[in-house]
Amino acid sequence: MKIGILGAGSIACKMASTIRLMSQELWAIGSRSLVKAEAFARKFDIPCAYGSYEELASDPEVQLIYIATPHSAHLENILLCLENGKNVLCEKAFTLNAEQARKACLLSEKKGLLLAEAIWTRYLPSRLIIDECLKEIGDIRMLTANLSYCISTVERLTNPSLGGGALLDVGVYPLNFMAMCLGTGYESMQTSAALVGGVDQQHSITYVYPKGAIASIFGGTQFNSDQRGLIYGTEGSIEVENINNPTSISLFDKQCQLIRRIDAPKQLTGFEYEVQACIDAINKGLTECSQMPHAMTIAMMEMMDAVRSRWHMSYPGELDNK
Ligand SMILES: NC(=O)c1ccc[n+]([C@@H]2O[C@H](COP(=O)([O-])OP(=O)(O)OC[C@H]3O[C@@H](n4cnc5c(N)ncnc54)[C@H](OP(=O)(O)O)[C@@H]3O)[C@@H](O)[C@H]2O)c1
Repeated sequence: MKIGILGAGSIACKMASTIRLMSQELWAIGSRSLVKAEAFARKFDIPCAYGSYEELASDPEVQLIYIATPHSAHLENILLCLENGKNVLCEKAFTLNAEQARKACLLSEKKGLLLAEAIWTRYLPSRLIIDECLKEIGDIRMLTANLSYCISTVERLTNPSLGGGALLDVGVYPLNFMAMCLGTGYESMQTSAALVGGVDQQHSITYVYPKGAIASIFGGTQFNSDQRGLIYGTEGSIEVENINNPTSISLFDKQCQLIRRIDAPKQLTGFEYEVQACIDAINKGLTECSQMPHAMTIAMMEMMDAVRSRWHMSYPGELDNK
């Protein structure tokens, strides 16, 4: 499949290497700067380099566009690609808010084009390993997950105009981890955040689910956390090393004795699974990937909206996009 990349930033490089390793056709790169696009094209041996996103979106050869821009640009970029008849894989966080996500998904369905969120943990094989282990620990009573990196100086994260803050960038992973285990139907939520310059430097969120399960998740940009996820059930527990890219999953019995430890399978970069899911869905004529359907993407955005509303934190321009 002929794939184009929109935005020639850091994660775009990782995706370009992945597509090359997968032996898919990396056809075009679109950047706001032609010089930057040409340099990117040379580095990854890409036939077409465009100095605007519009030119990339209107290339008739491109079948799937991967969007790798700041959160604030995602909606506009998605709409541009869909309007030009392109299937889309868009980086997380999918949009600034749920309203934007609904608008994007509606257009994908209207056009009959694939639109998928590149939240890679939903597509990784480790997800299925965790699902199997969940069957062995009885009812989940408590869950905790954290993700924090030392990234406080990255402009994309500190600037509210770019959709900055820990929640949309890293907090989205503990949130998805929790939702993959407990679902989205929580009963109540409490949250605290350290807000600096209009965005959250770090946050904690505690959810209470029906039947009393409690989940406490944390995301931050100030230090490197252990990235661990722990799930405690009535019959045992699970420990996930690195919820952002699980390396191993350990299953314990109710006496906290190790039953088994499963290492995650070797991967190219880990991005190959989301790309393959898109290719499979496009080949079947689907508008969404079963691993992360539109309804789940929207539900995740709704949960983040609810958290931000407790903090009274909004992004410039997000209301304009409604
Ligand atoms: N899946 C993962 O593991 C992972 C990891 C990191 C980030 N991400 C996600 O990937 C996306 C991009 O992150 P990144 O770390 O690659 O960011 P980055 O290095 O800053 O690159 C973003 C690119 O977006 C383009 N862009 C468009 N409008 C822009 C604006 N107003 N300001 C700055 N850049 C703008 C630029 O490309 P041009 O100049 O070429 O147009 C820029 O190079 C985000 O959604 C982020 O959450 C995912």
